Amino acid sequence: MANQSRTPVEPFFPFATETLREASAVLLVPRLETYFKGKREYIPSRTPVFYNPLMSFNRDVAVLTLRAYQRRVQRILDVCEPFTGCGVRGIRFAKEAPHVNNLVLNDLNPQAINLTRFNVERNDLSEKITIQQLDAHALLSRHARPKKRFDVVDIDPFGSPSPFLDSAVRAIKRGGLLALTATDMAPLCGVKPAPCIRKYLGKPLRTAYCHEVAVRLLLNALVLAAAKHDLGVTVFLSHSTDHYIRVYTQIFPGAQRANDAIGRLGYLVHCFHCLNRRWTIGLSNFPPRTCAVCGGEMAVAGPLWMGSLFDSDFCREMLEDARSVELGDRRRVVRLLNAILTEVGGPPTYYVVDKISEKLGLPGLSKAALIKKLVDRGYHATETHFNPRGIRSNAPISVIDAHSRELSRG
Ligand SMILES: C[S@@+](CC[C@H](N)C(=O)[O-])C[C@H]1O[C@@H](n2cnc3c(N)ncnc32)[C@H](O)[C@@H]1O
Ligand SMILES: [Zn+2]
Repeated sequence: MANQSRTPVEPFFPFATETLREASAVLLVPRLETYFKGKREYIPSRTPVFYNPLMSFNRDVAVLTLRAYQRRVQRILDVCEPFTGCGVRGIRFAKEAPHVNNLVLNDLNPQAINLTRFNVERNDLSEKITIQQLDAHALLSRHARPKKRFDVVDIDPFGSPSPFLDSAVRAIKRGGLLALTATDMAPLCGVKPAPCIRKYLGKPLRTAYCHEVAVRLLLNALVLAAAKHDLGVTVFLSHSTDHYIRVYTQIFPGAQRANDAIGRLGYLVHCFHCLNRRWTIGLSNFPPRTCAVCGGEMAVAGPLWMGSLFDSDFCREMLEDARSVELGDRRRVVRLLNAILTEVGGPPTYYVVDKISEKLGLPGLSKAALIKKLVDRGYHATETHFNPRGIRSNAPISVIDAHSRELSRG
């Protein structure tokens, strides 16, 4: 008899539910209207099981990354999602990425497990997906032995992924893909420096380019966690979107790889008077604290990952692939990848046009005109996905100021 898919009998859930579709996945989730404040604010603390439709974009990018990684390593993948909520991410991985052999979906919340079990059956994936209800550390520790490790681990917890970095790197195959989401943007962006230092072992800075510093802090914490296990880190892709940041990294074995990654940590100093910034590479290579432009005191951030945030070939492959798979918001994914491909290879940090305008008292400064002027003068200058008003450039602040004044004179 043909293997017909069937809708499993819906068990009783002690909360209102609804069925919806996200890309290829059909999902039973807690009724959304109960947990939204306005159209764009989801309140997870109110939900019996986590499902945030606003994170569909995060999952779109994750699917494309998984596909690009699979093409690169050319092997069948074992995947782990230790914080699965209603199972949506793992279900999409199983349906939208080819050659995923076995997925382990886990959550501590028993209601999340009931919902995930139902959703996995509903999408006909019981043969590919194993469901566990453990603390994430316990699950990942069970998979720390070489033969038990995963090719891909996706850490998408509440707030900071930092407490789980050690467990995650131990459970990943050498050469494996580790993806991390962080939503604790107040610490990472320097609004609350103390928890940032505790979680990421680095000092944040509340600057116009704090989202990039946030990504570099998260990578700093990962590099230091991996180094303890003689593992090194490289980066496929990073992005800052909505209320979170996300990094996709590759984990390599060997003390030398760990040393190489530590060798890419450094510091950034920023002058809040004139917006001058400088950076150094090396943990004991401290940058000067007096601004060479205005003589003011420079504020310091770090240690930070000062290596590349994007692998251009990898991102290009993702872009080319974006048309071959069902995504929630393909146009937005294409826009993000195009923006990243524009800024790839640029220097650390970016200028925000409005901050330059404000400092110089020059309203209406055009970002496009300033980029053109800088490029015409031989500087690197591009847009950045981190900020729609941002210019990633190696031009010093004195040049930025001079060209901005020239532009405003017409
Ligand atoms: C942000 S949600 C996960 C969202 C999911 N990855 C997605 O894409 O929809 C975080 C989940 O982690 C679970 N959780 C929190 N602490 C945990 C722990 N220590 N171990 C396992 N699960 C945990 C929560 O129950 C929640 O479902
Ligand atoms: Zn200065």
